[in-house]
Amino acid sequence: MYESLTIESLHAIRDEALASLSLLEAVDVDGLEAWRVQYVGRRGLLTLLLREIGSVPIPQRREIGAAGNAVKSILQQSLDGRLSAASGATKPTGGEIDITLSGRHRPLGRLHPTTRMVREITNAFRDMGFQQQDGPEVEWERYNFDLLNIPKDHPSRDLWDSIWLDEIDREGHRRMLLRTHTSPVQARVMEQTNPPVRIVVPGRCARYEATDATHEWHFFQVEGLAVDEGITFTDLKGTLFEFARRIFGAQRRVRFRCDFFPFVEPGVDMSIDCFSCDGQGCSLCSQTGWIEILGAGMVHPQVLRGVGYDPERYTGFAFGMGVERIAILKYGIDDIRNFYSNDLRFLSQF
Ligand code: DAH
Repeated sequence: MYESLTIESLHAIRDEALASLSLLEAVDVDGLEAWRVQYVGRRGLLTLLLREIGSVPIPQRREIGAAGNAVKSILQQSLDGRLSAASGATKPTGGEIDITLSGRHRPLGRLHPTTRMVREITNAFRDMGFQQQDGPEVEWERYNFDLLNIPKDHPSRDLWDSIWLDEIDREGHRRMLLRTHTSPVQARVMEQTNPPVRIVVPGRCARYEATDATHEWHFFQVEGLAVDEGITFTDLKGTLFEFARRIFGAQRRVRFRCDFFPFVEPGVDMSIDCFSCDGQGCSLCSQTGWIEILGAGMVHPQVLRGVGYDPERYTGFAFGMGVERIAILKYGIDDIRNFYSNDLRFLSQF
């Protein structure tokens, strides 16, 4: 028995009560009720002890009263906790939540194949010292064409079928378009910085084109540019060779052929030997043994001049490739329209 009401006797009763509560089984509802009667019931040990409050000297009454209330609420809470555990331990019946059911499966999202391919490509160049940049998808005619040495009425402009916006200047010329390639970012970056420049630029492009298995009206490209003193065509070849081997395998061979792009001189296209038939000739490489993967060249002196670089001092190389095309080749995808039709049967394969 606890004769007198003190902090010590309160704590002793608390410890004893909690110890005996912990010995009871979760489902022992009768045992829990007996415990309640013994400690916190109307004639329980704690209740009786707290009745002694009147005989505590006034200076200590406040402190002991507070301690008593604290012990009382600890015991009550502990009991409530055990009672609700006891009721939870029995299986809920109709209308309640069945906590024994397993949860609902939430499918994990994943990266879009274009995003993955962009990252693979830019990582390869990042490892070779190229910084990633981006530029606007809605572009001025000046950057998309003029500064890239594509003159206003020159037939070479027809290489890029454009989607023009209704931005019309005083002479009635349309001036803005959805960029047809990522090359305009070359001029943007050179205008803002001095050599050395080493950048890769991934981004969305658009062309006014009918869609089919190999054409989309919008798609991604990765552009590259390196400008410095003393850059030669060997640097172009070495860099792009290393890139091809990283993406398509260390045994790849590459082939460069002359090609025309107004912003480079000389201009080339680069092919890799067909990884499907090892150069023997198959349907993937149209029986040629080679697969074209990008356009490139030495930056045209006119482009350097246009952004204020001295072409007598600086040289550089540039390249551009279609991201979906690289992914199509690498993963054996048969239709470019799969990329943007939001069909999970396609997307979840990556
Ligand atoms: N911009 C070209 C296109 O869309 C691709 C390209 C070719 C980019 C040669 C380059 C380059 O930087 O040097 O067809």
